[in-house]
This record gives sequence, structure tokens and C-alpha cells, in this order.
Amino acid sequence: MKITYYGHSCFGIALESGKHLLFDPFISGNELAKEVQLDTIPADYILPSHAHADHIGDLIPIAKRTNATVIAIWEIYSWALAQGIQNAHPMNIGGSWQFDFGKVKMVEAVHSSSFPDGSYGGNPAGFVIEADKKRFYYAGDTALHFNMQLLSGRYLDFAFLPIGSNFTMDVEDAIQASNMINCNKIIGMHYDTFGFIKIDHQAAQEAFSAAGKEL
Ligand code: NI
Ligand code: MN
Repeated sequence: MKITYYGHSCFGIALESGKHLLFDPFISGNELAKEVQLDTIPADYILPSHAHADHIGDLIPIAKRTNATVIAIWEIYSWALAQGIQNAHPMNIGGSWQFDFGKVKMVEAVHSSSFPDGSYGGNPAGFVIEADKKRFYYAGDTALHFNMQLLSGRYLDFAFLPIGSNFTMDVEDAIQASNMINCNKIIGMHYDTFGFIKIDHQAAQEAFSAAGKEL
């Protein structure tokens, strides 16, 4: 698999099957992603973690252009259908589903979730994905919480964790999270985009190294 970072919490993953996963599309509203060509981002499946604008900002135009299937909690699924999206798959926390590219389990996140108009976005979520003989965790926006420990026996190859603080975990919490999920290879997200979440990259990487982990 090949992972592409589009800024903030948005990642594209190209799988060996040729399928493309896209997490939390937020490009046009992100000053740091202004060189990303929104119209060229491939997607067969779009997985939004929750309904905040910095996670679904570009979901509808990308879904319409690519005809990708939106995999989301019930409330975001319903919203996507109401926006004219044809392909969507509803899930909820704790559920799993086998797709043609692999398996998705929706897991808990501790955060809030509302659409840009203020309406209820359902519970915020994370995902555990199995594809290309790997298993990884995409945490979404979340606080450090004890239920992450439920993933400790899942043999995660790597994990996407927020590290920007203020709205989510900070670096220190993310290190504790990586202990709880028993995974030492972490891809940081949700940092630098706005003033509230600017971090010192070198200090973050040194803190992970000191804990015997890779950021
Ligand atoms: Ni959020
Ligand atoms: Mn966010």
C-alpha cells in the first residue's frame, strides 16, 4: 500500500488491488494544502471519522466526481444521501463489514460531531482497517481514552493518531495511546493546520524516539 498525505487528517491509501481509500477529506479549506489538486485525488471509498468541517469539507465534491462509496456512521451516511450521494454504506460503533478491498471496523472516539450547520453528526468514530495483509487504526479526532486498549491484541502494523492537542490528544497522550494499542509505528495527524494546533515537529519526533517509538 502507498499512503499519501493531503494535510490535516486527510490521507489517501492506494491498495495493491488498485482501490483507493480516502480519510477525512479537507483540502480546499486548508491553507497548508493549497498545492494539492483537489480534482485529481482518487477515491473508491471515502471514510469520514466525524462531521466537523475539517473532516468532511470536500467529501461531497470528491464523492460526486469519483462515485466513491462513503463509509460512515449512520448520521453522516444519511446526510450524504440527502446531498445526492448514490453510494454509501452505513455503520456504527463496534460494527465491522467486509468490503471488496478489505475489512472495516468502526471504533469509538471521544470527541464531538456536528455538521457545519450545527446539526447532529452522530458519534465521532475511528476505524480499524484490514487490507493488503496489514491492519491499521485511523483514530480520527479523539482524546486519549481507555477503550483504545481493546485494540492492544489486534496486532496493528501502524496507526494514525492526532497529535496537535487543544481539540484532540497531544504528543504525550499519543505516546500513551500507542502503548495502549500496542503499536510503535505512528503517523501523526491533526497538527499545524490552525493556530491552536501548531506543534514543534522535532520535539514531537524526539519524544516518540525516547519512548522507543517511531513518529
Ligand atoms: Ni473534530
Ligand atoms: Mn478536527
